[in-house]
Amino acid sequence: SPGPGYREPGLDALLARALAGGRLRVQSAPAPAAFHLIAVPTPLAEGRRADLSAVEAAADAIAPVLRPGDTVILESTVPVGTTERLAMRLAAARPDLAFPLRGGGSPPACVHLAHVPERVLPGRALHELVHNDRVVGGLGAGCAAQAAQLYRAFVRGALMPVDCRMAELVKLAENAFRDVNIAFANELAALSARFGVDARAAIALANRHPRVDILSPGVGVGGHCVAVDPWFLAQDAQDAAPLIRAARAVNDAVPWRVAAQIRAACARFAAPRLTCLGLAYKPDVEDVRESPAMAIVRTLLAEGLPVVICDPFVSEVPEGAVRRDAAEAITAADVVAVLVPHTAFRTLDPLLFAGKVVVDPSGLVRQAARQADTPLFV
Ligand SMILES: NC(=O)c1ccc[n+]([C@@H]2O[C@H](COP(=O)([O-])OP(=O)(O)OC[C@H]3O[C@@H](n4cnc5c(N)ncnc54)[C@H](O)[C@@H]3O)[C@@H](O)[C@H]2O)c1
Repeated sequence: SPGPGYREPGLDALLARALAGGRLRVQSAPAPAAFHLIAVPTPLAEGRRADLSAVEAAADAIAPVLRPGDTVILESTVPVGTTERLAMRLAAARPDLAFPLRGGGSPPACVHLAHVPERVLPGRALHELVHNDRVVGGLGAGCAAQAAQLYRAFVRGALMPVDCRMAELVKLAENAFRDVNIAFANELAALSARFGVDARAAIALANRHPRVDILSPGVGVGGHCVAVDPWFLAQDAQDAAPLIRAARAVNDAVPWRVAAQIRAACARFAAPRLTCLGLAYKPDVEDVRESPAMAIVRTLLAEGLPVVICDPFVSEVPEGAVRRDAAEAITAADVVAVLVPHTAFRTLDPLLFAGKVVVDPSGLVRQAARQADTPLFV
């Protein structure tokens, strides 16, 4: 989920129907079943390695109820090799059961294991759960086919049977691809600023090339996927991942650069009144996990700058900051920093920004002014 209190559109009604119809039972301990799905968090631990403690706890909880022929499916995003280690953990807990070997045969009546990584976008989860293609990574012969039986019941996209290591790598590759490409956009923004060129206009023009598709620069990369998963790919092969590590460093440095811009803007005033628009890790969600906007606000607060925050999705702000309505907070500010381009901010009257010093890495104010045909004052 994208964070505490988040409500996936359509999920409440679907859940209520399933519960009322007796098709869904909720309990605190695993029960015997033909399929066991593990979809627990896999955050980053010390040393930029995956924290697999929730996966291990889930495996330990499932082990006692496993029966011959059952299928265990890992949906969490994990480092390559985790499905094999999961099988070894289950085998150690249940020496009475048979388990498959990767690339080898599956003994008769063995427990099947598969990695079927999740790809849904929060906010569109119910649609994408059905329509996205899925890689189904089996551990031993027959495991992928066994797991695919479950997904065939509700997936209309293609199911692609592969080996579990392939599935683990593919999922990590998808998120590392995003990270590397966002890093390029962010680096281009820094270079453009150095050369006095408007980065967004430059990117829009470059993207007119039929084989160029540069992403948008911003205040950095957050959330519990794109900012985290590239490390899962690099953690056991640091020497083979220079580009992925560099992209992480580039994206991690952006909040500090934006904080420096805001600090410089505030230095023009004796007692600067600063308003920051947005705290979430991306537009239109309330999730603040690994949020670059949050890192920027915390840095500014630690340096003693008073910060007013506007975010229609996030109700809790860091200690020392004040939360206010956007229009009111912009009007009262000397400096306005647009940290997250929430859709709600796009409809703000561009005239509100007149006379303000605006730090706007995502180009929201510039775009709004253009759309409203208001001359630009920033
Ligand atoms: N949310 C997404 O859209 C999405 C997309 C792609 C991949 N993923 C991956 O899926 C995994 C789960 O992500 P999420 O966003 O659903 O996580 P989440 O933070 O919403 O947690 C999922 C559930 O796991 C439960 N949980 C936590 N620890 C547990 C434990 N030890 N035993 C049993 N249950 C436990 C939580 O109570 C929660 O209900 C992660 O690896 C994530 O990277 C998520």
